[in-house]
Amino acid sequence: MRAANINTITVGVFAWAALEPEEGRFEFGWLDDVFERAEKSGIRVILATPSGGKPNWLAHAYPEVRRVGENGRRDPQQWRHNHCLTSPVYRSKVREINTRLAQRYGARQPLAMWHVSNEYLGYCYCDLCMGAFQSWLRARYGTLDRLNDAYWSRFWSHTFTAWEEVQVIDSSIHGLSLDWKRFMTAQCADFLRAEMVPLRKHSPETPVTTNFHTIEHYDYFRLAEEIDVVSWDSYPDWHADPDGLDESAVAAETAFRFDLNRGMKGGKPFLLMECTPSQINWRDVSPLRRPGMLRLSSLQAVAHGSDAVCYFQIRKGLGGAEKFHGAVIDHAGHAQTRTFREVAAVGATLEKLPGIVGARVPAKAALIFDWENLWAIDGARTPQNKHKEYRETCLSHYLPFWKRGIAVDIVSSRSEFSSYDLVLVPMLYLLPEGLAERLSAFVAKGGTVVATYQTGYVNETDLCFQTGAPGPLSELLGIRVEEFDALPDSSRRSVIPRDSAGHGLSGDYEARHFLDIVRCEGAEALAEYGGDFYAGSPALTVNSFGSGRAYYVASRNDERFQDDFFGHLAGRLRLPQALPGPLPPGVTAHIRESGSERFLFLLNFARRESAVSLPPGGWSDVDTGEPAEPDIRLGAFGARILRSPAAHAQHTKNLEAPNP
Ligand code: GAL
Repeated sequence: MRAANINTITVGVFAWAALEPEEGRFEFGWLDDVFERAEKSGIRVILATPSGGKPNWLAHAYPEVRRVGENGRRDPQQWRHNHCLTSPVYRSKVREINTRLAQRYGARQPLAMWHVSNEYLGYCYCDLCMGAFQSWLRARYGTLDRLNDAYWSRFWSHTFTAWEEVQVIDSSIHGLSLDWKRFMTAQCADFLRAEMVPLRKHSPETPVTTNFHTIEHYDYFRLAEEIDVVSWDSYPDWHADPDGLDESAVAAETAFRFDLNRGMKGGKPFLLMECTPSQINWRDVSPLRRPGMLRLSSLQAVAHGSDAVCYFQIRKGLGGAEKFHGAVIDHAGHAQTRTFREVAAVGATLEKLPGIVGARVPAKAALIFDWENLWAIDGARTPQNKHKEYRETCLSHYLPFWKRGIAVDIVSSRSEFSSYDLVLVPMLYLLPEGLAERLSAFVAKGGTVVATYQTGYVNETDLCFQTGAPGPLSELLGIRVEEFDALPDSSRRSVIPRDSAGHGLSGDYEARHFLDIVRCEGAEALAEYGGDFYAGSPALTVNSFGSGRAYYVASRNDERFQDDFFGHLAGRLRLPQALPGPLPPGVTAHIRESGSERFLFLLNFARRESAVSLPPGGWSDVDTGEPAEPDIRLGAFGARILRSPAAHAQHTKNLEAPNP
């Protein structure tokens, strides 16, 4: 590990059967040995609690600990992440093993952090979970009348007449499906808190994380509230086409996810807890990472706010489902491999970056991503069921900024907006209570909001607003949505800028999938539809509200629209760019800054050489320590990191003049 420039290890994930081979018989000798050797080598330990996979003896002695599927069947004890979050037996067994770990290792010198469980995910439908859900509903609604009103459950005669009748098998009641996911999030947060009790007690100084794998099961913003540090496992599909010349599409999606993890704790740095040093083995085809890609993708994480680059796994196991998953060390246990050399080189670069730890990504733009909204959109049955694409829509609103080296925080709808100049609100179909007021206050004070089609349809229990869309946002946006057209796959309608509009728009654009027919109630139309019976009706509007502006994008537009409109808006708002001017295709630029230093990351996701010019400012190359040349060349999949004293910080800020 020292030879690979690895200074921190994660130990104990899924190690329960090795720690407690039989109920009540514990074996810590091997872990003591790991701690001793780590201490001697100056390596820090991130110690995991083992609850992500349970031993066979436990599953067989106490069947209640096994998860029950939606089909009512109990897991026969296969794979992992298959425990019930409610089971008192499981919770007590977890508390016991966690207590022993915390007592034994909580004060050991190499311990850097607790890593609770592994990638919490999934739902359990056992009787214990159902009972807990019913109690949770009772606490939330108080009476069945309130629950029935909130769920509109008289529809199809689904009125609930006893709490015990509430089951989650019925996806026709959308509020119920949402509450189930909220409950499972709450149950997971509660389980996580319970796991942490002994860790906090016996090891109060040690920070706690749990590795997220941000998928749709829980509201990860809620889980993040429980832990000290956010960490994430990143497995992008690099080189899906190994002959491809540009990995920008994957890079953008990965960047979005990094920014989401940074947004989980108000912009605080996170940890890249897992990535593969070479291949994965669970997609249909997983090409090797091409030379340079390990360094590039690792530094991408750091550029977006990660304070670490950790790999899964140190060495390939000889058997089991992950024996062909990439590792720092192969089955053949030596260091003479390309992967090992590349890992060592990344470590060597990171060793030159001690000042990056804690450094922030300065973002003046935020994009609201909301899990409850994702669930609501997924569950909804609307005229457009085929192309809902909430995540893709968020990404398409993030892209124009990412391409320009403009930092965007991906934030929850519960976030504080006052530090931003721009808040993007793509497809916020479910409008959380109070958000319209908070966005209005933000705009009134001079902020800019851009909301899109499919925003403001339902409240938190998935009931439609009686005012129609965009619900409580209509005053801020100065519009009402009268109808929306849903277009099938290949249909397009043109969007035409109005003559006097400006706003960076030129020529006709194409809209697809969603087209709102909007009535302006105070807003001004900047573009209109060019075809169909709604030709001439507004496709893009702006409303002045207090000292700020609120835009409404009424249709799902093509990439050129996204680029023109949002690129212009970014310039007009003088959002800080990492580098002035346009970046070459495939190249991105990012800034992190601490009180004393700025770091500029230049990343080339294209398989061709590129060059960018640096603004003046005392830049030096992190790897060589030499002053940086004014024109920086980036090789294919190349990455450079430059640093400058914070005194020069202003040189890269606000360089883009407002575009008339
Ligand atoms: C992660 C998981 C690891 C390993 C890895 C393989 O999701 O936490 O244990 O399975 O995937 O890519």
